[in-house]
Amino acid sequence: MAPNIPPPAGKHPYPPGPPFLPRLLDGSVFRENAAEFMLHAAQRYGDLVHYKAFGRHVYQLNHPALIDDFFIKDASRHHRNLVMQRGRAVLGNGLLTSEDPLHMRQRRLAQPAFHRSRIAAYADIIGSQAEAMTARWQSGSTRDLREEMLAIALRIVGQCLFGLDLDSGAESDTEIANISSAVSAFMGFLPLAFLPFPEILQRLPVPAMQRIRRSRVQLDRLIYGMIHERRKDSIDRGDLLSMLMAATDAEDPSAARMSDEQLRDECLTILLAGHETTANALSFAFWLLARHPEVQAAVSAEARSVLADRPPAAADYARLPYATQVFAEALRLYPPVWVTARTSAEPYEIAGYPIPRGAAVIAPQFAVHRDPRYFPEPDRFDPARFSEANKANRPRYAYFPFAGGNRQCIGEGLAWMEGAFVLAVVARDFRLTLPPGAPREIEFQPSVSLRPRKPVLLHLERNGGQNLASPCAE
Ligand code: HEM
Repeated sequence: MAPNIPPPAGKHPYPPGPPFLPRLLDGSVFRENAAEFMLHAAQRYGDLVHYKAFGRHVYQLNHPALIDDFFIKDASRHHRNLVMQRGRAVLGNGLLTSEDPLHMRQRRLAQPAFHRSRIAAYADIIGSQAEAMTARWQSGSTRDLREEMLAIALRIVGQCLFGLDLDSGAESDTEIANISSAVSAFMGFLPLAFLPFPEILQRLPVPAMQRIRRSRVQLDRLIYGMIHERRKDSIDRGDLLSMLMAATDAEDPSAARMSDEQLRDECLTILLAGHETTANALSFAFWLLARHPEVQAAVSAEARSVLADRPPAAADYARLPYATQVFAEALRLYPPVWVTARTSAEPYEIAGYPIPRGAAVIAPQFAVHRDPRYFPEPDRFDPARFSEANKANRPRYAYFPFAGGNRQCIGEGLAWMEGAFVLAVVARDFRLTLPPGAPREIEFQPSVSLRPRKPVLLHLERNGGQNLASPCAE
């Protein structure tokens, strides 16, 4: 199906879109919820939409063929968006914020650490962390699944990246609490980092900024501490950091390995990029399972038959297709990265419309994933949309939770495995229900990532006969 876009007309042709507002008011086009604004814009104005926001021209691409060009053919016409450019003040020059040629080189260096063969080793970490979590849970309790998912995602990324076993010592709970609070204070700053003049904001002598500065110092200390520790020996500990430190550039063998500062930027990026995204997706997925008991029962049955009472290992991933479909459908409805944005680096054209230099060109996952042409009854939760047969009937970029092209998420393989394993272990060990009186809809907030607006409180009952060795089993 080709994009449906009216041909350009007039002297200053813009694609269809909402009328321009005066400069001081145009940021308010997003009103309450920018993700929903983009969805309504796509529904009302079609495959290519134009509007002005915060004084900038925005071109919103709502068709898979346009998004394909955006990620592939036109990729070199774009810079990182303004948000990422400003984020450099906080995140440094890691994979997420850097531009070519640095990005291309760093991507080449980091890619082997995410290779399929390495991810197999991370599978054991995910499996044992998931089992350790359900062993800590009490049957009959009500828990905030978002908090739980943030904690486990941090444990997993911490262990995969640094070999840091946050469960190993007596101080582990304090340690994870410290790291967690440093990461969340830091995450709390991210929306501010994307405002103009983030360097100045960071220096303001107000308590919130002081807390954020402290959290940054704490994270730097943790990361540099680990880098210095590793520099003393050159043993490959099998984690991401070992791989990043050992990485050499095959295309430029004379180039130096990563400096400590570059390693710090990459580690901080991976820690932040790999943590909240996965945790949010899993929080939504568990809420959806509680809302759809028949789907939950099917995930549980699959997990029992594949895993019995042992933790999942790498080879199990292919044997948990239904858990993977559930995760995929949660990522469709609530994509943690709800819009992918770039800034045009040069003037060019889309469907005959001129795109000026400096415009925002955006591909909104939240809106495209709810297009009824590719997902009939788009608001309905239906994991069967992701059966192999159904997937084959859709164009590549009707669904792109991990973006695409040369900036496609480097942690995608890890995220799929984490999603499927955590869903499978939890559904095997517990039955999740909404507490009495809980709302039937979940409110979401499109911030740095799309997250639940409120705690995701779910009631947990241990499933009989599984994991009897766990200390909390009744
Ligand atoms: C469900 C979980 C996840 C989602 C939905 C997600 C989504 C994305 C998306 C859409 C991008 C591209 C952003 C852009 O083009 O502007 C991205 C980039 C990235 N992600 Fe993920 N991600 C997830 C998990 C992870 C994990 C587990 C890691 C690492 C452990 C990770 C590390 C990264 C990094 C380093 C980048 C930058 C890649 C580059 O520009 O070369 N992500 N992610």
